[in-house]
Order: sequence, then structure tokens, then C-alpha cells
Amino acid sequence: GETYPFYGEHQAGIQTPPQDHLVFMVFDVTTTSATELQVMLAKWSAAIAQYTQGLAVGTVEPERELAVPGDTGEAAGMGANQLTVTVGFAPSMFDGRFGWAKYKPAVLNDLPAFASDALTPEFTGGDICVQACASDPQVAYHAIRNLARMARTTATTRWTVQGFGRASRSADQATPRNLMGFKDGTRNIVGDDEFAQQVWVGADSDQQWMTGGTYLVARKIHMLIETWDTDYIGDQHAVFGRTKMEGAPLSGAAEFDTPDFAATGADGKSVIPANSHVALAAHENNGGTKILRRGYNFTDGIDSVGRLDAGLMFISFQHDPAQFIALQQKLGSMDRLNEYIRHVGSGVFAVPPGLAAAGDYYGKALF
Ligand code: HEM
Repeated sequence: GETYPFYGEHQAGIQTPPQDHLVFMVFDVTTTSATELQVMLAKWSAAIAQYTQGLAVGTVEPERELAVPGDTGEAAGMGANQLTVTVGFAPSMFDGRFGWAKYKPAVLNDLPAFASDALTPEFTGGDICVQACASDPQVAYHAIRNLARMARTTATTRWTVQGFGRASRSADQATPRNLMGFKDGTRNIVGDDEFAQQVWVGADSDQQWMTGGTYLVARKIHMLIETWDTDYIGDQHAVFGRTKMEGAPLSGAAEFDTPDFAATGADGKSVIPANSHVALAAHENNGGTKILRRGYNFTDGIDSVGRLDAGLMFISFQHDPAQFIALQQKLGSMDRLNEYIRHVGSGVFAVPPGLAAAGDYYGKALF
């Protein structure tokens, strides 16, 4: 459909089938007034309720010549284009500035450092994340831009990534490809049962306000594309443990064949190398741990020395950041893929549940 419902048990943009475009922005809250923060979150909630239904907030051309337009205008007449906007709070929001310390979920802490991290301050940290996804990039950007505009004097933009192609799939979507040319999202979380087990925070959480919410991990991952492009195909297969065109596990023939991590070849070695990306990340080899991957391909053009600056804006959702941490502790130290990627940005955010009805707003339970 063209629009996704805004109100509901969970925020949209998580179980929603990934749209084609992303604008991800992280804000620093500059005010120390809890009331100003509250007003901003209430304004954002009301505005997002409108934007996601294809409606504007304020007019593009006010009647009075001296009035400033309420809406910036670039998405006028474009419709909702499947827009979803998802909001999350970083650990820093619970440091006491706004009286939220007692509401800090025990599991919400800055991520630990991982082996092979190459984080830069330009793409790390911040207080509030906003993920806008849509089938049209201008519609996604319009929403973020106008939220930033509304936040002026209360919050400033800290970092942003624009994603131009989805790199994950839901149950009934074809699997897209990441910029390494491999199908990405083949074995992703699908279905309500798996979402309940692995993604949504249950009523057993230490913070009741998080019931129905989830935790978002963002990692801006730069790909060393030139190096990757000189690697021979057999090695590319070994890096992921899958084939490139079909996306089949090296132990099988078709994309959705279940990988057989125990299969060995004539040389006695594992058919799916033990240090391949999928062997290290698969739930079979991680005590059943799964995460919802909902990442996007990005490019920032070329870097200061003329190399392609591109990669994967990795976004995952899980009911406990420990799920991501356990996987990345393994991947960061053992993954063959590390030769070709650098994690340059990072953030972790508590994503509250969906809003109930008009008048509800993000973080209402915390004021
Ligand atoms: C699977 C690419 C980073 C977790 C895959 C697959 C590809 C891929 C091609 C196989 C197809 C599929 O099942 O989706 C990449 C690239 C990355 C990256 C290019 C970085 C640029 C990460 C990170 C994590 C992760 C940081 C988590 C810490 C997983 C998981 C699977 C997977 C859990 C499914 C494994 C399975 O069940 O077989 N990834 N990935 N990936 N990746 Fe990544």
C-alpha cells in the first residue's frame, strides 16, 4: 500500500517490509529543559502522524505575505510513498539531564569497543535517532528536514546517512543486493513469532515503558570497494560462505537451502569456511541468537584521496542489544569480511513502543 498506519502496538519501520530509501539522522538535544524536550517530542509525534499519512503540517504558502511557510514544500502533492518514521533514545538521554535516570533500561548502555572498530566521532553517538524510510527519497528527506526544523533551539543535527537501496528483505520481498554484489537479507527474521521472540521487548523488561519497543543498533560500515573488486570470485564466495549470483550457501544449490555447517569436502575442510561471514553469524552457531537486519546501501561520493566512499548502513533491531554485541564480538575478531570493511559509525537506541492515539507522544511515560 501507499501508507502504513502510524498508531499501533509497535512503531512502524521495523516489521514494515523495507522500503527502498532511508534517511537516518541522529540529533543532540541542546536544551536542558525537560519541558522543551517534551514539547519537541509532542510536536514530532503529531507531525510524523501527518507526514506518514501523506499530509502536511502547516501551509507551503501562507496567506499573509510576511508569514514563514509552515511546510518547506518539496514533498507537496507527492503522497506518503510508504513513509515510516522511527524514533529512538540513546543511553545519554538517561544521564539525569531530563529526570530520566530512573527510567534507564538496564540493557541500554553504550556499545563496547569491538576488535577492528574504526569509529569516527563524525558518525558516532548522539541523543535521539530518527529513521525515515520511504519508497521515494525526497519524501523521506522532507520528513527529516522538517523535524530538524521544528527542533531548532532544542536539538541540533549530529550525523546523518542517506541510504539509496534496501539491503534486507521481509517475508514476501525478493532479496536485494548489497554493494559487494551479494544478496543480503536471505536469512532474516520473518513472521510474528520470531519478532515476538527476538525483536520486541516483552512485559518482563525492567522498564515497563519499553514493552512493545525494541533496541536499534546502527553501524555505518565503509566498504573497501576497490580492494573487494580485485578479489577473485572463489575467494568472494569463501568470504561470505555463499555464492554470488544465486546466493546459495556453499553447501547447497539454491538461495533458500539451509546451510550445512558440518558438511566437509574431499579435502576434509568445511564446505562453508568456519571464518566466513555466515558461518560466524548464523543462529545455529550462536545459541539461537537472531537479529532483524534492516540495512541500506549508501554512498558519500569519493573520499579525500579519490576512493569510492560507500558501504552498508547496517541497522538491526533486537529485544536486547546483547544479541548484536555477541554477534559483533565474534565477527569483529574472526570474520574474513573484515579485510574489506571498516565500521566507521555507531549508535544504540531504545525504540519505544508505538503511539496509542492522537495526543500520545514519544517518551510520554518518561515525563
Ligand atoms: C548474513 C553481508 C555486516 C549479521 C549476511 C549475508 C550477507 C551479509 C551477504 C548472507 C545473506 C543473508 O542471509 O542475508 C554483510 C555485509 C556486512 C555485514 C556486506 C558489512 C558491510 C553484518 C554485521 C552483522 C551481520 C555487522 C551483525 C553483527 C548477519 C547475520 C546474517 C548475515 C546474523 C545471517 C546469517 C545466517 O543466518 O546465515 N550478511 N553483513 N552482518 N549477516 Fe551480515
